[in-house]
Amino acid sequence: MVETTISVIKADIGSLAGHVIVPDFLLELARKRLREAVDKKIIKDFYVTHAGDDLELIMTHDKGEDNEDVHQLAWDTFIEGAELGRKKKIYAAGQDILADTFSGNVKGQGPGSAEMTIEERKSEPFAIFMADKTEPGAFNLPLFRMFADPFCTAGLVIDPNFHDGFRFIVQDIKKEVPCYVDMACPEEMYDLLALIGSTGRYTIKKIYRRDGMVAAAVSTDKLHQIAGKYIGKDDPVAIIRAHSGLPAMGEVLEAFTLPHLVSGWMRGSHIGPLMPVALKDSRCTRFDGPPRVIGLGFQISNGELLGPIDFFEDVAFDSTRQRAMEAVDYLRRHGPFMPHRLHDLDMEYTTLPSVLSKCETRFTEEEIVPEKK
Ligand code: F6R
Ligand code: MG
Ligand code: MG
Repeated sequence: MVETTISVIKADIGSLAGHVIVPDFLLELARKRLREAVDKKIIKDFYVTHAGDDLELIMTHDKGEDNEDVHQLAWDTFIEGAELGRKKKIYAAGQDILADTFSGNVKGQGPGSAEMTIEERKSEPFAIFMADKTEPGAFNLPLFRMFADPFCTAGLVIDPNFHDGFRFIVQDIKKEVPCYVDMACPEEMYDLLALIGSTGRYTIKKIYRRDGMVAAAVSTDKLHQIAGKYIGKDDPVAIIRAHSGLPAMGEVLEAFTLPHLVSGWMRGSHIGPLMPVALKDSRCTRFDGPPRVIGLGFQISNGELLGPIDFFEDVAFDSTRQRAMEAVDYLRRHGPFMPHRLHDLDMEYTTLPSVLSKCETRFTEEEIVPEKK
């Protein structure tokens, strides 16, 4: 049995005309560096793309998760890209590079990563979802629907191979030291929902079938926690395996038909619908959004990638996008009011507290009545 690791490592190292899109020269640079890494046998195969302003490095190799050579490759590519970006004065060049030197792993250094080591099945279809202008908890709802909701995934009822359900590894991302809990579905479903409904705190990190087969992996890196201030949203990625004893690809994709509300969007400070889009529409424009997700499908064979197919480049998602834009029109009319704008507690790492601190000094215990003139 061939063991392959899929590593998706991503960073916003600068973008074109604001926080909109990764410029071609960065995609080309990344492709060049990863091609060289294939020749040097650091990785087996790769695909470079972007989700809005995030550069996405999809890599396969046989070195396992958290491998220093693979992480170094991603780090060096981001550093070189950021330098080039600074020279060309693209916007926010080097944004997600928060450490001065590489410490052996990109975790805690700015870039986000999702990794999964699989024993390749006879045929190995999988999807990678990459979102822009939102946070890792944005995947909680669709992941729950894929792996625990029989109204989305018929196989939970019909297919004896996963009728027993799945185990969800949930991370408390507010803790400084990563903390995890393991919840089994269906029996602990209500406890699981009690946690993952709080999308800003509890994030699904991995999902396993009851026999231990890994089915999903998500990036859970928090930029503001590393930097201590607002840098940008922690635009997440997820790797999902499908079929032959796992949810079918159509069940995986069905989970994205509701453009559910997520936090992020303009200045990482607003609630908006997560809109599934084709790669050609992966550019956050209106009010820096709405938050978007792309989905690419691959087959893997001895570490080699076949594909991708652009899942959301399909008329079947037109009505979802239409509904998302109706929600956008409705929400935008609330302007700076909650709940369109996030709750104060969630604004802690934005620039709002500095504005509010000026107002605070003007409060008095006496109610003020302006003098009549
Ligand atoms: C959201 C995001 C953007 C920026 C906004 C302001 O994650 O990156 O919405 O927050 O465009 O950008 P600055 O502060 O760079 O002018
Ligand atoms: Mg950006
Ligand atoms: Mg982004």
